[in-house]
Amino acid sequence: MIGVFDSGSGGLTVLRALVERLPDQRFVYLGDHGHAPYGERSPDEVYGLTCAGVSRLFGLGCSLVILACNTAAAVALRRLQQTWLPARFPEHRVLGVLVPVVESVTQVSWEVKAASPAAESTAGRVGIFATPRTVESGAYPREIGLRAPAVEVFQQACPSLVQRIEAGATAETLADQVAAEVRALRARAEGGHLDRVILGCTHYPLVEAAFRAALPPEVAILSQPRLVAESLADYLRRHPRHRTPRGAGQSRIAAFSTAEAKTVRALGRRFFGETLAFCQIGGQIGGMSLPPGPRPAPGPAQAPTVQV
Ligand code: DGL
Repeated sequence: MIGVFDSGSGGLTVLRALVERLPDQRFVYLGDHGHAPYGERSPDEVYGLTCAGVSRLFGLGCSLVILACNTAAAVALRRLQQTWLPARFPEHRVLGVLVPVVESVTQVSWEVKAASPAAESTAGRVGIFATPRTVESGAYPREIGLRAPAVEVFQQACPSLVQRIEAGATAETLADQVAAEVRALRARAEGGHLDRVILGCTHYPLVEAAFRAALPPEVAILSQPRLVAESLADYLRRHPRHRTPRGAGQSRIAAFSTAEAKTVRALGRRFFGETLAFCQIGGQIGGMSLPPGPRPAPGPAQAPTVQV
């Protein structure tokens, strides 16, 4: 099965695009609501929690996990792919929402780790709005710059925007913050000119209209969920072993949370557009024992223990 991991509810905006693009596949969603938000946690906490969440999805029978959370992908993906995964789960794969966005901006594959002639046509100015931790990680400018040095990247951290969206702040409050973040980013991009903008946080599609209103009309906003869905469809074509067609009568999504199911249901509806029957994950899931998962290979690359 294909696992989708997020710090909480935001990854449901990505899951929505995945189920629409790949309606015949089965997905297992895990929201770490018990530890959200990640966007203002330390990098070691984000890394440890991400490894723990991914392990759980592997334990549920997923061979491929998408990190739907930008903060988790920005902070943990490269480290996890380079050390923890090959040492502990060599047959499994983890992809992150950052990857298709970097590939789209640079026109260079994630596998390529150097400036590529393919990127020569991609010079331009890109703005990225994200959580403080994603911005601080430097992952977007680093990964874009590695492949397409001519692309200029300007980042803007939007502290508390996630919390305000989740708390149901008024449209006016959200629009005011978004407008202020856009002004701040454009002030740093001398002349204010931008070609493209990335909403580098799972929650921001919910305020995309406010970003659209605050940005000049000629600035394109890349749709991360759509890019991720296209990229996963392409990945599954190239790696059919991760495909999990759903059988007759099987549901498309099994949804789990590290928090109490009834507390996450309403948020789930807002982010996914329909009610999902979340089960709280622990040693047991909704009264069912966990199916046996892969045994991690013995190895030195343990995920750090996190105190949360
Ligand atoms: N999912 C996070 C992201 O995309 C936002 C929520 C959080 O901070 O946990 O960065």
